[in-house]
Amino acid sequence: MTNLNESREALIAAARTAVNSAYAPYSNFHVGAALLFEDGAIVTGANVENASYGLSLCAETVACAIASHAGRRGALVAVAVLGGPGGRIDAPITPCGRCRQVLNELAALGSTDPVVLCIGAKEVLETRLSVLLPNAFGPAQLG
Ligand code: THU
Repeated sequence: MTNLNESREALIAAARTAVNSAYAPYSNFHVGAALLFEDGAIVTGANVENASYGLSLCAETVACAIASHAGRRGALVAVAVLGGPGGRIDAPITPCGRCRQVLNELAALGSTDPVVLCIGAKEVLETRLSVLLPNAFGPAQLG
């Protein structure tokens, strides 16, 4: 069972590294995300844009898809996200609405309420997924 305090710097560093993998030629807004699991594993993602702009995938969604493909179902402890123009980090960014829902699916499978670290150059906004997405619709609603 991992402890966020021990893994916090590694999680943020992983998100910083992930931002270098962003494919964002249209917005030039490069985003990196890192997911921390109860076994201490960290899974990362970066945004993947598309010439058909609306098909672009956010960093958090890519990280969730990679985690799912690796067999991870739940046990999501924390998420770190950062991004900015050309990958330069200034103000913290929060996960978009769609990513909140995608993160909720992974979290709900393990009944966790992950800490969300929104990393800025000087400021870190630390919150919880349940704060970003209250009264979420999830797998439990489907019975
Ligand atoms: N983006 C993310 O990767 N995550 C978010 O939570 C917000 C937005 C990406 C999508 C798009 O490639 C770029 O940032 C500009 O919106």
